[in-house]
Amino acid sequence: MSLWRYKDRLPVAPLVTLDEGDTPLIPAPVLSDMAHCDVWLKFEGANPTGSFKDRGMTVAVSAALAEGARAVVCASTGNTAASAAAYAARAGLRGAVIVPEGKIATGKLAQALVHGARVVALRGNFDEALTIVRELADRHPVALVNSVNELRIEGQKTAAFEVCDAIGEPDVLSIPVGNAGNVTSWWRGFSEYGAAPRLHGYQAEGAAPLVHGAPVEHPETVASAIRIGNPARWEDAMAAVTSSRGELRAVSDSEILAAYELLGEREGLFCEPASAASVAGLLKYGAEGTVVCVLTGHGLKDPTTAMSRAASVVPCEPELGAVEEAVLG
Ligand code: F0G
Repeated sequence: MSLWRYKDRLPVAPLVTLDEGDTPLIPAPVLSDMAHCDVWLKFEGANPTGSFKDRGMTVAVSAALAEGARAVVCASTGNTAASAAAYAARAGLRGAVIVPEGKIATGKLAQALVHGARVVALRGNFDEALTIVRELADRHPVALVNSVNELRIEGQKTAAFEVCDAIGEPDVLSIPVGNAGNVTSWWRGFSEYGAAPRLHGYQAEGAAPLVHGAPVEHPETVASAIRIGNPARWEDAMAAVTSSRGELRAVSDSEILAAYELLGEREGLFCEPASAASVAGLLKYGAEGTVVCVLTGHGLKDPTTAMSRAASVVPCEPELGAVEEAVLG
């Protein structure tokens, strides 16, 4: 099964699909105890390229192919690039991705390259990359597959359908916010479903333009996926959060990393740092009732952060005594 089971509510035919969507919704007993509510984790890392971007990309690239586009382009903090590259490869289209130089996680870079995209490392940040790529798409016959593309939002709204079909309408949706396309998508999905949970959006403290109400010129955070200072879906996100009687708040890098480690060590789920912002926010600010936290991307995307935080390995001689000591000591 894939998100295309909702094809009646999607605007194009599934020309380019990798069986995305239908991701696990996992109860979180440890977090439920800690936050005194009923916590569920929507594990979007289980999508084909390891993030929620595939939901939008299958729709956007299907449309691009139908319209006769020859190439797809995007600006990205990494996951959109990985996903666009994979779906372009699948579609037989050229893919070009513009990423901030030295600022995207290693796994995402590897994905974009493996799928044969042209990877352009911009000496600038994500916001600059997006401005330039929008101009590029205005001037040339290439399909822009950032979440400024409505079809991305259409695909990503299916995550809300899946949650409602699985456990009914939650009280709260907790979600990391970067360029603000995903919170916009979830709200559209809930609205079309006839549901209206409170949206709790979380930005990283050093990249929290929506929380402060002003763009951030030099966004900084360990959560590289959401290192964004001027979200393209600013108004849509504000409208969604306000209509839902929700909140947009900030979490610090250390709170994000604490949640990241807790998820790995206590719930058995490995997500990337940006994803852990949804859990960090829940633990910091609390919530009531049934709470779904969106884990937007897989932890394997960012091995560098993982290894820098984790315990070191235990060296050992190939003898039983030494192994006993290493394992049980
Ligand atoms: N979590 C992850 C893992 C992401 O990659 C992103 C965005 C977000 C959350 C935030 O979603 O931008 O819709 O508010 N990544 C984009 C990218 C910007 O280029 O991969 P958003």
